[in-house]
Amino acid sequence: MSDAFYSHARLYDLMFPGGGPAVDFYRGEVGRHGGSVLELGCGTGQKLIPIAGDGHPCVGVDFSAEMLAEGRRKADERGVAVEWVQGDMRDFDLGRTFDFVFITANSLLHLQEGEDLVSCFRAVRRHLAPGARFVFDVFNPSVGLLAGADGVRRAREALAFRDPVRGEVSVDVAETYDAPAQVTRGTWYLSTDSEPDFVVAPLDIRSIFPQELPLLLELGGLRLVERFGDWSGRPFATDSQLQLCICE
Ligand SMILES: C[S@@+](CC[C@H](N)C(=O)[O-])C[C@H]1O[C@@H](n2cnc3c(N)ncnc32)[C@H](O)[C@@H]1O
Repeated sequence: MSDAFYSHARLYDLMFPGGGPAVDFYRGEVGRHGGSVLELGCGTGQKLIPIAGDGHPCVGVDFSAEMLAEGRRKADERGVAVEWVQGDMRDFDLGRTFDFVFITANSLLHLQEGEDLVSCFRAVRRHLAPGARFVFDVFNPSVGLLAGADGVRRAREALAFRDPVRGEVSVDVAETYDAPAQVTRGTWYLSTDSEPDFVVAPLDIRSIFPQELPLLLELGGLRLVERFGDWSGRPFATDSQLQLCICE
């Protein structure tokens, strides 16, 4: 469940301002690889708009009309051309192939069932041109952290932000971990002093454990070529924060 969370696209961009090493990584990869680009779960285009600004033809697919509208607004404001498509990454048909397909910022983890992930990978495969790359990043689940999700509402101070409309906004999150489903079930609360809990939105996110990841890809007809543990390209290891996966 994530629709309500992503219906606040402007607040999403304020809470997660983007930029940084993930944008640099994807811009660098696309720059080296060249060609046409497809991002699934593109949101407001935090990565796609800079890539399109580098001159690559870009298509972004997302479930959320609100996230796409904000992406379109920002791209228009910057004079950058991106084709925005409302769709579901579990099954889509754009009728053409791409040289570089990516899914970033844990967007893939909104697919909770194994079948949904495999179905997404199959759809990706159908959209890969010969020699194309599929790259995605998901967090590396820490069993200790997952087990610590006790349902208690806590402040996420690092995510607090200033909204030009409302003023200072605090962010609280309560999470539990559903172990058989491998899903962290969260509720996010956004508040100001005068408007407590003006947003209360569920957000569920799956874990993909390191051993199952290549098997899911294989079922989808894809092969894991390389797995990095951070944005600088360090090899994936037990204590890595990320699983940054290069596939073909
Ligand atoms: C964490 S945001 C990441 C957005 C963007 N990739 C970025 O880096 O800022 C996840 C995005 O995935 C989208 N999403 C979730 N489930 C989806 C699905 N089944 N198909 C397409 N998009 C989906 C959400 O609407 C949201 O915009």
